[in-house]
Amino acid sequence: MAVIPVALAGRAYEVVIEQGLLDHIASRAEPYLAPYNRTGRAVPFVADTNTHAIFAGDLNDRLASAGIKAEWFVVEPGEDAKTWRVLERLCDWLLALGVTRKDHVFALGGGVVGDLVGFACAILKRGVGFVQIPTTLLAQVDSSVGGKTAINTAAGKNLIGAFHQPSLVLIDPLVLATLPDREMRAGYAEVLKYGLLGDAAFFAWLEANGEKVLAREPAALEHAIASSIAMKARIVAEDERETLDRRALLNLGHTFGHALEAETGFSDRLLHGEAVALGMVLAARYSARRGELSADDAARAARAIAAAGLPSEIAALGLACNGAALVDHMRHDKKAEGTTLPFLLLKALGEAYVARDVDLSDIAAFLDAELAAGKAGSGAV
Ligand code: GLY
Repeated sequence: MAVIPVALAGRAYEVVIEQGLLDHIASRAEPYLAPYNRTGRAVPFVADTNTHAIFAGDLNDRLASAGIKAEWFVVEPGEDAKTWRVLERLCDWLLALGVTRKDHVFALGGGVVGDLVGFACAILKRGVGFVQIPTTLLAQVDSSVGGKTAINTAAGKNLIGAFHQPSLVLIDPLVLATLPDREMRAGYAEVLKYGLLGDAAFFAWLEANGEKVLAREPAALEHAIASSIAMKARIVAEDERETLDRRALLNLGHTFGHALEAETGFSDRLLHGEAVALGMVLAARYSARRGELSADDAARAARAIAAAGLPSEIAALGLACNGAALVDHMRHDKKAEGTTLPFLLLKALGEAYVARDVDLSDIAAFLDAELAAGKAGSGAV
C-alpha cells in the first residue's frame, strides 16, 4: 500500500494505492460517504456501461454492508460522453439528487468519466467535491491526479474545462485485471513518460521490469503506479496551473501525439497512449536531430517503447499525409501560443525541457524524413 500526498495549499489530498482497496471502499472513503449516510441519502456514482457492469454489483454490496446506498449515472463508453449534452444530463441528475456543496460525487472509470465528473463538479453550485476511482492504467497514473477536468466540443478535445482537484483518489491495481491488453499498453506509455521526462533511474527500472508491469505482477505494477503518481504529485504541487514550465513537462510526446491522433480521427486506429508513445519517440529523435540528445539515447527510448508493444515507427501507421499536414494539426493544439508552439524535448533520458525556439517548418521537414525513412523500410529504431 502507498499513500501519496498531493501538497496543494488549501486543496491538499491523498492518492491511496492498495491492492483490493475496492473491497474496503466504505472505510477508505468514509469521510466522503458519511454525510450521505447521516442524512439517509444515496451516494452518486458515475460510471460507463463497461465499468458499471464489472464493478457496480460488488461495490453496491460493499456499501450496503456499511448501510450505504449508491445511485448510478451510467454513460456510454468513449469520448462521446464528454459532451455538453451528457454534462447537462449529469448536472441535472446531481441537482435532482439534492447534491450539496458539502457532498462528494464518485467517478468510477477511465479518463473520460473522471474528466466529465470533475468538470460537472467544478461548475455545479460553483464547486462540489469529487472522489476519483480510476479503472484504467492511464487514468490511474495520469488523468485522475492533478485536477484537469474537461469536455470536448466540435472545435476540439478538452477545450472546455477547469482546474478542479479531487478530494481523494482511490487506486486499486487489481481492477486492471479486466483491462484489455491494448489499453494496458497504452497506459504504460504514460508510465514510461515519467521515466523519460524526469527520472533516469525509473526509466532504467522500467526497461528491466516493464514486462512484469504489463503482466500485472502486483509488486511491479504497484511500484510503477506509485512512482508515476509521486512524480506527478510533485510536479502538480509545484505548478498546478501549468504556468511555470514544470507541469508542461507532463506533455512530453503529446504535441506530436495529438497531431497523430487528429490525423487518425481520434479513433481506435491510434489510442491516446499509443500516440503519446510514438510522440515520445519523435520527440527523442527530434532532440537528437538538434544535437541535444545522443542518437544512442534516442534509440534506447524507442527500444523501450517498442518492447512494450507500442508504436515506435510513424510509417507503421500507414498515414497518407506529409509533415506539413501533421504540423497543421499542431497549430490547433491548445498549447499553441499565437504562431508558435512550445515543444517538449529531451536533454537526456530523464531530463525533459520546454523548447520555445522550434521552427515548425523544421518539424515538418523532420516528419517528412521520418515518413520517408519508414516507407523505405529503413526507419531508425
Ligand atoms: N496530463 C497532463 C497533466 O495532467 O498535466
